[in-house]
Amino acid sequence: MTDTAQRATFTTFEESTAEDWAKIIPQLEVTQSMVADRVLSLLRDLKADHGGFPVDRLEHSLQTATRAEKAGKDDEYVFCALIHDIGDTLSPYNHPDIAAGIVKPFVSEANYFMVKHHGEFQGYYFWDYIGLDGQAREQYRDSPHFDRTAEFTGEFDQTAFDANYTSNPLEHYEPLVRQILRSA
Ligand SMILES: [Fe+2]
Ligand SMILES: [Fe+2]
Repeated sequence: MTDTAQRATFTTFEESTAEDWAKIIPQLEVTQSMVADRVLSLLRDLKADHGGFPVDRLEHSLQTATRAEKAGKDDEYVFCALIHDIGDTLSPYNHPDIAAGIVKPFVSEANYFMVKHHGEFQGYYFWDYIGLDGQAREQYRDSPHFDRTAEFTGEFDQTAFDANYTSNPLEHYEPLVRQILRSA
């Protein structure tokens, strides 16, 4: 909310009025206009964590996006690839839902599904090593988005841990992040 904006005066929603909400609702756009900066900041913060992986979490994100871009995927897909693990340091046990929640208003149902369920599809490559079911993705076999999500994890996500790969820098993706997160 901007400092100059008019503010509602209620103490409970129960006593709020249409006039109050007429002041609040336009501010959603203002808050949304700050989201791209927040997302870029969160991505930058991923550099500080490697979680034991061969590359840090920012490099993994950039490498996933770069691999998808080089394979000819469209902007929306590359955006999803870039932020699919943005929740890693906020919700390590449930990180796909963080990114899925961010992308949902701005991307197709197929891309939303791909982000939301990438964890179970990525598990195909390692969950059997850690006491989980590597075949967990099979519960989605009948989904129209199964193949898309299997391709995402198989081609771009599980492959994006190469310390010798040259990824595009985050600056390369800033215009894309700002363009897609501009408004719902
Ligand atoms: Fe992930
Ligand atoms: Fe990932």
